[in-house]
Amino acid sequence: MNRRVRVISTVCAGAAMIVLAACGAAAPAATATPVPANTPAATAAPARPSNPGGPGPALNLTGDAKAGEQVFTSTCQRCHGPEGKGGVSNPGSSDGTIPPLNPIDDTIANKDPKVFAHNVDLFVEHGSTPDGPNPSNKMPAFGDTKKLTPQQIADVIAYVISLNPAK
Ligand code: HEC
Repeated sequence: MNRRVRVISTVCAGAAMIVLAACGAAAPAATATPVPANTPAATAAPARPSNPGGPGPALNLTGDAKAGEQVFTSTCQRCHGPEGKGGVSNPGSSDGTIPPLNPIDDTIANKDPKVFAHNVDLFVEHGSTPDGPNPSNKMPAFGDTKKLTPQQIADVIAYVISLNPAK
């Protein structure tokens, strides 16, 4: 994941603008792109898995959160914790822990359940390797390896959404 990198580059762009602004007349180009300093959260791109690939067939199915809870308990809980609350360490990764899914990353959650499902699906389909020198745990590719069926993926997505009611 490169969220951290994006955040840093946003900060650097901000700092560069301040420096350019300080240069005044010597840097006429600096006036071309004024960006309000307090917008990055509102415009943050959704977190995406490191592995490539588009949306899977689960997104065309109706998920059942109750069935998804069982998929979660048997397949996801050992890494994301009971009810997705996290707390599982991940030595060798930059974060040091496997991300919680309850609450889930702000850029993955969405008021539109279709967008929320799409954001979760990409991780479950294709898997992802966290940043860091040698992460002990990677997010497995449950769709690409057919470890879960499209219906099981639809169900577990419905469960993850149910853990994160729209704010
Ligand atoms: C072997 C451990 C492991 C298992 C099992 C696992 N995950 Fe993950 N998951 C991870 C790791 C590690 C990441 C962080 C990946 C990254 O940073 O690129 C992750 C990331 C995610 C993300 C993105 C969260 C974020 O904040 O970036 C979602 C959504 C997700 N997993 C859902 C699931 C679901 C649903 C299941 C069960 C079907 C599951 N995971 C099973 C290890 C696991």
